Amino acid sequence: MMPVEIKKGLWQLPVVDWNVRDFHGYSVYQGTTYNTYLAVGDKITLFDTVKKDFAGDLLGMIAKIVDPAKIDYIVVNHAEPDHSGALPAIVEAVCPEKIFCSAVCKNALMDHFHDDTMPFSILTNGSETDIGGRTLYFMETRMLHWPDSCFSYLKEDKVLISSDAFGHHWATSERYDDEVDFSKLMRQCAKYYANIILPYSNMVQKVLSSVSSLNLEIDVIAPDHGLMWRKNIPAILSAYDEWSRHCLKNKAVIVYDTMWKSTEKMALSILDGLKSEGINTELMSLTHNHRSEVMTDILDASVVVFGSPTLNNGMLPSVNDMLCYMKGLKPAGGRIGGLFGSYGWSGEAVAEMKEYMVKAGLEMPEEPLKTKYVPDSDVLDQCFEYGRTLARHSAAKICV
Ligand code: FEO
Repeated sequence: MMPVEIKKGLWQLPVVDWNVRDFHGYSVYQGTTYNTYLAVGDKITLFDTVKKDFAGDLLGMIAKIVDPAKIDYIVVNHAEPDHSGALPAIVEAVCPEKIFCSAVCKNALMDHFHDDTMPFSILTNGSETDIGGRTLYFMETRMLHWPDSCFSYLKEDKVLISSDAFGHHWATSERYDDEVDFSKLMRQCAKYYANIILPYSNMVQKVLSSVSSLNLEIDVIAPDHGLMWRKNIPAILSAYDEWSRHCLKNKAVIVYDTMWKSTEKMALSILDGLKSEGINTELMSLTHNHRSEVMTDILDASVVVFGSPTLNNGMLPSVNDMLCYMKGLKPAGGRIGGLFGSYGWSGEAVAEMKEYMVKAGLEMPEEPLKTKYVPDSDVLDQCFEYGRTLARHSAAKICV
């Protein structure tokens, strides 16, 4: 990929990872990008680096604009290794005068690289620093999504370098939001939010409020993954506001796995019951859907129903995996939860699942539904009614 000039002397250097497919449990089936930014003025400043394996690609891209050895400053907005893994190699090649970062980020970088020779220069929240004819306004955005996460706002350029926030995992040859299909872009953003940002929604609200109160003029939001925002800035800010407020839709998701189709029969009757109350319902088998896609659909659902048969006195491993993942992401906000499953002789799966659902923050107004071996027509009628009841509970939770 070629560098992209965003504003005069301000470049995006997109390193595209076309072939990555897994991001610690998140399915990045369309790859990702690690974006860095280069400001060329009286001083030359690099914002963030890339994954360790891509250090050579980044140096090659910098060399299309300037000799890397001429870089004066490196700004580190985030210590996670997809943005800092290449830092030691870049520092060795560049020998920067200063590495700007927050105190928290410096500690995190020290804990990663154990190198006290790096020329750290600490920036504080709200500080302004001249970087050779440009003003860097620095914002600590702790826990969005690591303690060290920060934004860099370039005042004269009106460009907000937002680290992971507003990003998405999607390898494309296009570089701006208005160059791709908008609905595909928003699905990728929702997936990113649901799988990475969701537990830090309170912090998102604080950061949105702080950006709004500062009245920052923003022509471009430049995240460290994916496409830059120049046309649809209000849309992505509004989406982050809705997602972080757990603004729920008239939507249910049934997540299940099955052994001999009994639990699946129950799932289908629950779906009919939900649908009969006018709630849009997704049926997601864990045999056929990746956990990160399921989580994306849960993001704005007002009802989340899990089903598993009992196997060896517990739930199926696929359901355990999904629930463990969801518990960490904490889809709270008053979502209504439901549970169901078949069993042969013991039937512990629903009780085991309930512990995860409660820890994930779901409200569980109804007792779980379970059936011995194969559901008959009476049980399927109960499943239908169960779906209807869950839909009615959810009515008060819907905000869009
Ligand atoms: Fe893309 Fe939190 O690193």
